[in-house]
Amino acid sequence: MTQHIPSPLVVLGSGYTGRIVHSIGASQGKAVHVTSRSPLNNLADIPSEYRLRFDLEQPSTWPNIPAGADFIWCFPATPLEQVQAFARTLDTTARRIVVLGSTSAYEVTDQSNEYPPPWIDESAPIDLTKPRVQGEEFLRTNCGATVLRVAGIYGPGRNPLDWIRQGRVSPSRKYVNLIHVEDLAAICLAAIEKGKPGEAYNISDGAPHTWDEICATAQQRWSVTATASKEDRFTGKRISNAKLRTELGYVLKHPDLYEALALIESLDRV
Ligand SMILES: NC(=O)c1ccc[n+]([C@@H]2O[C@H](COP(=O)([O-])OP(=O)(O)OC[C@H]3O[C@@H](n4cnc5c(N)ncnc54)[C@H](OP(=O)(O)O)[C@@H]3O)[C@@H](O)[C@H]2O)c1
Repeated sequence: MTQHIPSPLVVLGSGYTGRIVHSIGASQGKAVHVTSRSPLNNLADIPSEYRLRFDLEQPSTWPNIPAGADFIWCFPATPLEQVQAFARTLDTTARRIVVLGSTSAYEVTDQSNEYPPPWIDESAPIDLTKPRVQGEEFLRTNCGATVLRVAGIYGPGRNPLDWIRQGRVSPSRKYVNLIHVEDLAAICLAAIEKGKPGEAYNISDGAPHTWDEICATAQQRWSVTATASKEDRFTGKRISNAKLRTELGYVLKHPDLYEALALIESLDRV
């Protein structure tokens, strides 16, 4: 009887999300390789057999990716010419590719006056003038990549309450869509196994909040005071995650922003 040997799995660009993909993969018994442009500096804590040097801008590093590997692409897929040149070196029919995009792909037109803003699913128009969207769409349509259009990433060390404390955000009627990094990383692994090649999926917790509401809750629950509110003419977006739930069958570990923030506060303040 022949035994199925899984393809190697490589995380291209192992920053905030990629490192969590590695640790969740390891906890599931998967061998997940991670790359950096400077692995000795940035991946010193990862066992050497899982560290690879890879730089999209340096073709001499491309052969470091093991032949036939599946990969999760965790940095902006740009510039297009370089993405295309790298893709030509791959046997794309034999491997699974998951690419992290951004929900900013949907910022195509001037904001409408509709409020609250309409829900956006994967059929909404995307902005092909954006270099990263061009790279993602090339990989999706030519290489069968599964593109994840990701909302704002938060988690330990990327705490929205700190964004309020630091005045990086302030109360406004604008909607924001978020996803906890642990959910995003687990979804990347689920997308490698169950994502349809050539499909796009919105990745968000499905519960858009206004900054007015988040700042008011931050004040009430954590005594975090925001800077003065801003007149924001932008309405933001409301990102639907229905396809993620129904087609990928993913169940969120952190569906409630405020419960997740309570946990992050307790971790970040240790
Ligand atoms: N932050 C957000 O709220 C947000 C929202 C939506 C979508 N996204 C997207 O989601 C993805 C993951 O986000 P993240 O915040 O986890 O990313 P991140 O922390 O910036 O990690 C990406 C890593 O990729 C590596 N990298 C960058 N350019 C590269 C290149 N040309 N060639 C090879 N490696 C390169 C860098 O590591 P080395 O320096 O070690 O090489 C970098 O740390 C990104 O595509 C991001 O744009 C982020």
